[in-house]
Amino acid sequence: MAEAKHLLPLMFSLLLLFNIGIEEVQCLKEKKVFSLQKLQWRKLSHTPTCHPQKSRREKGAIILEMKHHDSCSGQTKNWDEEVQSRLISDNSRVQFLQSKIKKQVPGKIAYKSDTQIPLYSGVKLLTLNYIVTLQLGRRNMTVIVDTGSDVTWVQCAPCKFCYSQQDPLLNPGLSRSYKSVLCNSSTCQSLQAATGFSGVCGTDQKTCNYMVSYGDGSYTRGELGRERLYLGKTYVNDFIFGCGRNNKGLFGGASGLMGLGRSNLSLISQTIKKFDGVFSYCLPSTNADSSGSLTFGRGSSVYKNFTPISYTNMVPNPQLSTFYFLNLTGISIGGVAIQAPGFAKGRTLIDSGTVITRLVPSVYNALKTEFLKQFSGYPPAPSYSILDTCFNLTAYEEVNIPTLKLQFEDVVGVNVDVNGMFYFAKTDASQVCLALASLSSEDDIGIIGNFQQRNLRVVYDTKKSKVGFAEETCSYT
Ligand SMILES: *[C@@H]1O[C@H](CO)[C@@H](O)[C@H](O)[C@H]1NC(C)=O
Ligand SMILES: *[C@@H]1O[C@H](CO)[C@@H](O)[C@H](O)[C@H]1NC(C)=O
Ligand SMILES: *[C@@H]1O[C@H](CO)[C@@H](O)[C@H](O)[C@H]1NC(C)=O
Ligand SMILES: *[C@@H]1O[C@H](CO)[C@@H](O)[C@H](O)[C@H]1NC(C)=O
Ligand SMILES: *[C@@H]1O[C@H](CO)[C@@H](O)[C@H](O)[C@H]1NC(C)=O
Repeated sequence: MAEAKHLLPLMFSLLLLFNIGIEEVQCLKEKKVFSLQKLQWRKLSHTPTCHPQKSRREKGAIILEMKHHDSCSGQTKNWDEEVQSRLISDNSRVQFLQSKIKKQVPGKIAYKSDTQIPLYSGVKLLTLNYIVTLQLGRRNMTVIVDTGSDVTWVQCAPCKFCYSQQDPLLNPGLSRSYKSVLCNSSTCQSLQAATGFSGVCGTDQKTCNYMVSYGDGSYTRGELGRERLYLGKTYVNDFIFGCGRNNKGLFGGASGLMGLGRSNLSLISQTIKKFDGVFSYCLPSTNADSSGSLTFGRGSSVYKNFTPISYTNMVPNPQLSTFYFLNLTGISIGGVAIQAPGFAKGRTLIDSGTVITRLVPSVYNALKTEFLKQFSGYPPAPSYSILDTCFNLTAYEEVNIPTLKLQFEDVVGVNVDVNGMFYFAKTDASQVCLALASLSSEDDIGIIGNFQQRNLRVVYDTKKSKVGFAEETCSYT
């Protein structure tokens, strides 16, 4: 008996040891090595040249080279300041998005239906930062890719107010294939659903004037036109786009924007006969020399994914036909599923133009607690803008970070790339922050931002209303 008394605590501590052992093994399994030297945002050491991005056709799909805008935006003068301004503009995008969505929730409508709600997209070039090259009337135009808006537009000559861009302006007067859109047409009327502003007749009945406002003071105004659109060598006749005569915002040298939202003026709706409503992208990290791809069409054999694509249903939202809503059902950190009431509400949208993923407070707080538990022992650093989980990692060459896995309805788990985990507020790594942020209210809409979509193949099948995910190392070639 006496022996048994002593045995019990011993067994207990053995059990404890054993448990800790298992936990450590699990942690090792569910962590990734993060090299601080390799992965931090690099300052560009050379003046970037902004060549047209490449394109090709392969196995029934059109593949456009996609780059981060940094590869084209000139040298950064003050890196720390710029990083801060990125987050501020990212936040204004998110705030505007929340207000737009809340206004449209049935039962909460505080505005008359004819109130003009500006289309949210928050085009700050520093935020909306992936570019591709398309051709309108045979001219190369490098444009920003946005899944959060619908109208594709470029700056046109003659121009009332155009910001400076790298390519020459499009001059529709010189093109024989350019046609204007009549102001009494149904196309002109569909502007209301696509932009929140109805089309207005110009001085004559032949012009349909549009306006897209991006919520942060950025906007484009001009008239709708039709022109032959080339994506690589494939073309679409009579593509409806905005010929922008008055454009303002930090579009930073790009010729305009490609709208890949869900409404019927978007590029993907207009090309549905050609590409069957399917596009996909792989977003590269910010390094100047890294490239990714934007593809159109069902030719999935051109993807270079190394895990199978798993699909989740888009959550229908008739009030907000532009956006891609998904049902985020769970998140795990280092293999530990976090518990929170904010999951499975079908109120998370996926956006190519928001940088940092935003989560409702219950989800964010649970995630942060679990992350801090697993990423312990590293010296903390002060919060940075919207990011409140920061570390001073100057003394480390490598750290082991717990993996982050996102669960959507029917999707086993999307592993967030190690490049999408930390945001470098300081180049010397003295303030490195978990690249996720909390929303202010449980009612807000969650957003999967582009930082967490790096090195993933994200497939949008608008016909089947599905979004698919697979792991891939992004490259154009
Ligand atoms: C357009 O860009 C492609 C490269 O993507 C280049 O080969 C072609 O010469 C360019 N065309 C014009 C008219 O500049
Ligand atoms: C639109 O206006 C043009 C004249 O500007 C006219 O020829 C055409 O019939 C009108 N279309 C509709 C649908 O009213
Ligand atoms: C978009 O839908 C509206 C009705 O919702 C329709 O009147 C219009 O013709 C459509 N536009 C295009 C370009 O298909
Ligand atoms: C989200 O997915 C969960 C789990 O499958 C389901 O119970 C819930 O009804 C879904 N929510 C919506 C809004 O589709
Ligand atoms: C970061 O940590 C290093 C040592 O690990 C220290 O020398 C440095 O002062 C710290 N920097 C800040 C900003 O706290």
